Amino acid sequence: MKITQIFYKNTLRNFCYLINFNDGALYCIDPFRSTEVQEHLNNKKLTAIINTHDHCDHFSGNADLYEHFHCLVIAHPKADIPHKSVNIGHREVIHSDGHWSLIALYTPGHTMSHICLLLLKEEIPYALFTGDCFFNAGVGNCHNGGNPEVLFQTIVESFENLPDELLIYPGHEYLKRNLEFTKYYEPENSDAELFLQKVKELNLDEVFFINTMKTERLINTFLRLDSPSLKKTIQASEATTKEVFLKLRELRNKW
Ligand SMILES: [Fe+2]
Repeated sequence: MKITQIFYKNTLRNFCYLINFNDGALYCIDPFRSTEVQEHLNNKKLTAIINTHDHCDHFSGNADLYEHFHCLVIAHPKADIPHKSVNIGHREVIHSDGHWSLIALYTPGHTMSHICLLLLKEEIPYALFTGDCFFNAGVGNCHNGGNPEVLFQTIVESFENLPDELLIYPGHEYLKRNLEFTKYYEPENSDAELFLQKVKELNLDEVFFINTMKTERLINTFLRLDSPSLKKTIQASEATTKEVFLKLRELRNKW
């Protein structure tokens, strides 16, 4: 099994992913544009496109790839996606090669048709492709068809129980900006501070981090809703975790 990460230098800084299973099956998650996908495929045949949700920067490569491969196009039943041929629901299996399998997790909030893709090795969670639900050191916005209360529920129910070792593959590269946000609202978070110092010295158009959930639990303030430092900064010492999350999401909208 091989995962290929493709970064687009567009203003939204999209990531697309290829998963090549041991049996030869090849899946493409969220193609922003087909050119780079085709270069990486190197004449191999694409089995299917999977779109995490129906925002156009996550499916604008669909048409060209579909025209070339006539492949399956997989997304949530509510997602309005060009050439969609397969509807996939919560915990349904997309592919298995006997060792590695890929399943969908229904993760509404950024949009109501959002799915994340969980890759398992021998039934044990190995990697999560998070689309716009969850980013390195942040979570998605809810501007276009989303709902922050639903996103909070998704983060609590779908992310809090994930294993520390799980690798996170987000739909966008927003690491530095998100770390700055964490650092501002959690000034005593030394892990975020150290990570930010490291990131500042790098060209984030060229160097990408594949964080584990363990790292995210240290640097992602949306997973740290009980942090005294955070509660103090936003003056919410008596607030519930949901209230803290909603306040943070609002603050991040203006950041
Ligand atoms: Fe989106």
